Amino acid sequence: MKRIVVITGASSGLGRAYAARISEELKPDEVWLIARRKERLLKLAETLPVKGVPVAMDITDRGDMQALKEKLAAENPDIVCLVNAAGMGKTGDVREQTPEEITAMVSLNCTALAEMTSLALPYMKRGAWLIQVASIVAFQPMPGLAVYGATKAFVERFSEALKEELKEDGILVTCVCPYWVKDTEFIGIASEKHEQYRLKPLSLKTAQVIEDTVKAVRRNRMICTPGIVSTFARTASKIVPDQLIMKLLNLYRKK
Ligand SMILES: NC(=O)c1ccc[n+]([C@@H]2O[C@H](COP(=O)([O-])OP(=O)(O)OC[C@H]3O[C@@H](n4cnc5c(N)ncnc54)[C@H](OP(=O)(O)O)[C@@H]3O)[C@@H](O)[C@H]2O)c1
Repeated sequence: MKRIVVITGASSGLGRAYAARISEELKPDEVWLIARRKERLLKLAETLPVKGVPVAMDITDRGDMQALKEKLAAENPDIVCLVNAAGMGKTGDVREQTPEEITAMVSLNCTALAEMTSLALPYMKRGAWLIQVASIVAFQPMPGLAVYGATKAFVERFSEALKEELKEDGILVTCVCPYWVKDTEFIGIASEKHEQYRLKPLSLKTAQVIEDTVKAVRRNRMICTPGIVSTFARTASKIVPDQLIMKLLNLYRKK
């Protein structure tokens, strides 16, 4: 049975970097690279130390997900790691967002992530890694990022409960909750309409997120908070009431 790693969001940013790092770390037979932009997946596959298999698909599309389900059933692989990194966000008040933008965030960040997890789990055994990419915004309600924040809270809560369910089976679940990561496409797309969200002091680099994730999974940590800001935010969210944090966030974003 071949050992494979499955990465969503592999055409860019964190997903692309996870593909390279986890290939080195777990030395699978294949890495399945999932995203819509096939050319990028083909290029990435050429650079990996193991066989990269581009799976160009839209994970919010029913037909594409059915095809992936059939591919898994036909090949019956041993999934040693699933990384759910595909995700998108849009800044701005809910009233400024279109219903389509809102649906797109929920479909990709919540529905597709949960469905991908459910598709992969029957092929995962003791010791397999399940890495769910959430965000620092999962820790408290976020005015100005209300929908995106709520989708990431879903990812965090879903993953936490799943870790408990999978404990006896020895599947290692880690939810990664980074602050802004400056060297991916995410911030440019998210803040198209709001430049003030672009430059954040202390923003992270992809390499740090990836290294901290690997360490967290090796230690079987539920939550990975790369860097000082994410770690501080998580701690603060446990001590300071949400209402107060929201007031401060609102002041900060409007200044
Ligand atoms: N960058 C940050 O500041 C930051 C901070 C905290 C959390 N995060 C989270 O980190 C994760 C990775 O983000 P990133 O920073 O690496 O962003 P990115 O560079 O924009 O990458 C997003 C990836 O998702 C893929 N994707 C988007 N829609 C898709 C769809 N319908 N089907 C399949 N793949 C799709 C994109 O590929 P295609 O366009 O080729 O499909 C791309 O590979 C996301 O979940 C994001 O919410 C990011």
